[in-house]
Amino acid sequence: MSTPLLTAQDVSIHYGDKQAVRGVNLSIERGTVNALIGPSGCGKTTFLRAINRMHDLTPGARVTGRIVLDGEDMYAPGVDAVAMRRRVGMVFQKPNPFPTMSVFDNVVSGLKLTGVRDRARLMEVAERSLRGAALWDEVKDRLKTPATGLSGGQQQRLCIARALAVEPELLLMDEPTSALDPASTARIEDLMTGLKKVTTILIVTHNMHQAARVSDTTSFFLNGDLVEHGVTDQVFTSPRDERTEAYVTGRFG
Ligand SMILES: Nc1ncnc2c1ncn2[C@@H]1O[C@H](COP(=O)(O)OP(=O)(O)O)[C@@H](O)[C@H]1O
Ligand SMILES: [Mg+2]
Repeated sequence: MSTPLLTAQDVSIHYGDKQAVRGVNLSIERGTVNALIGPSGCGKTTFLRAINRMHDLTPGARVTGRIVLDGEDMYAPGVDAVAMRRRVGMVFQKPNPFPTMSVFDNVVSGLKLTGVRDRARLMEVAERSLRGAALWDEVKDRLKTPATGLSGGQQQRLCIARALAVEPELLLMDEPTSALDPASTARIEDLMTGLKKVTTILIVTHNMHQAARVSDTTSFFLNGDLVEHGVTDQVFTSPRDERTEAYVTGRFG
């Protein structure tokens, strides 16, 4: 057995006095898609943000426990949060391309930040990333046009390409299709299988059909607790916990 890419050990997250995530233990294997499901307000986004050290930037937020990425404790003293964040890509609910930049400049923005200037190299990475996000054919003739000229679904795939360009070990996606129409949603779901050949994915979705379609493992959160984690098929067809069963059969949500 290979060591997991990511391990959360007894992770708790507070906002001031309020506890949003309680003692979560979870491992994620390399090259898999993992879904986080659960009703609104149960701590999915809060947990996801901890894996990118985004709570460092939220006043009052506090993360305890250990989050280990490829053997390295993300919160150990002396770990550079910026360098750590670079290893973990993030795609948000609403597409957020840099509005003043072209399609091309969006994709290579992270690479430029790391000092890459070579035109040929930037173009090569842009093409590979846009192909990875299944957007290349649609934008290859308009790389220099503003990113804001793309449709919502294209903008979200551009954000995926932008994340892929820096070759993240882990890609976090927080309800990445909830602002998109069904056709754009289907395109992004289709992408997932290809994406896990190049990275590992942790996706929050409140759409259980989406979780069932795209993920290898599923974690069910409820009121800040990780109630159940397992192979997606098992979680949906023979959940061990009655709360999971109630949720996946649509009895609350
Ligand atoms: N910045 C914040 N400050 C205080 N409370 C927050 C903040 N963000 C989220 N919460 C609270 O933490 C809980 C979990 O929220 P969240 O992680 O966004 O849930 P989910 O993504 O599952 O809908 C909720 O009760 C929410 O109100
Ligand atoms: Mg959320």
